[in-house]
Amino acid sequence: MSSPTSSTERKKVTTHTFRSKKTQDESITMLTAYDYPTALAVDLAEIDSILVGDSLGMVVLGYETTLPVTMEDMIHHCKAVARGAKVALLVGDMPFMSYQASVDEAVRNAGRFLQEAGMDAVKLEGGRERRTVVEAIVGAGIPVMGHLGLTPQSVHQLGGYRAQGKNAPAAKRLLEDAIILQEAGCFSIVLETIPTQLAQYISEKLEIPTIGIGAGAGCDGQVLVTHDLLGLFDRFTPRFVKKYANLHAEMVHALRQYKVDVENGHFPSQEHSFEMSHDDWDAFLGSVKSE
Ligand code: KIV
Repeated sequence: MSSPTSSTERKKVTTHTFRSKKTQDESITMLTAYDYPTALAVDLAEIDSILVGDSLGMVVLGYETTLPVTMEDMIHHCKAVARGAKVALLVGDMPFMSYQASVDEAVRNAGRFLQEAGMDAVKLEGGRERRTVVEAIVGAGIPVMGHLGLTPQSVHQLGGYRAQGKNAPAAKRLLEDAIILQEAGCFSIVLETIPTQLAQYISEKLEIPTIGIGAGAGCDGQVLVTHDLLGLFDRFTPRFVKKYANLHAEMVHALRQYKVDVENGHFPSQEHSFEMSHDDWDAFLGSVKSE
């Protein structure tokens, strides 16, 4: 496929692009994708990076949380995204229990995202408690994106999906965690659902770019779950999401029109059907009659 925005004309986004965008004070854009057509669209929209998030579990697989998502789920969806997006930096989200049990297992699982699934980097949740794991994965040559603040894999420990870092000790701990992740080798950190002032303060203190979600405008970049932004996920919409479309409603409308057309005999019409030539049809009828 070729168009003025064809991905062949643009340079592949790398972790270095992230760093130079921060240096040049240019905002980094990131969105999630879990399948080929969405990845294609996000890439054509020239978004810098695609996160194959474990939000997959909620917005595509219908689970209540991200906890049931497995490595096999992630690898399967990452592969589809890698087939669709050729320019964006591709980040695969390490699912719950793929990096917590042991450092060895974490490195092997991180490696699968690059070796099998076509990702350029991995993301994992947590602060100081992840220092050794981040160092080991980065030591294996795999770029790591950190994730602090509201970390959905710890939803039960956090007591729900609530804003983090809202008082002075919690804010100080988040800042320390961000510095630890930077020292451990993360190339970037997602800051989720934390106060705007804190996100801006952390972003200014760090050399690596921060990517905010529900963390205000002071981050070096922004990420949203594409299904939220497109209005495709109807169960709930977090307050920090700006909806740019209402595709769920449009989808239901189109599907209803199809039902009505089939029931009224308006679909399929001639333009959506195939016909045999008269000669072939006559020959066919002749052949079945003579049997
Ligand atoms: O899984 C995901 O989509 C995420 C983003 C919300 C940052 O981790």
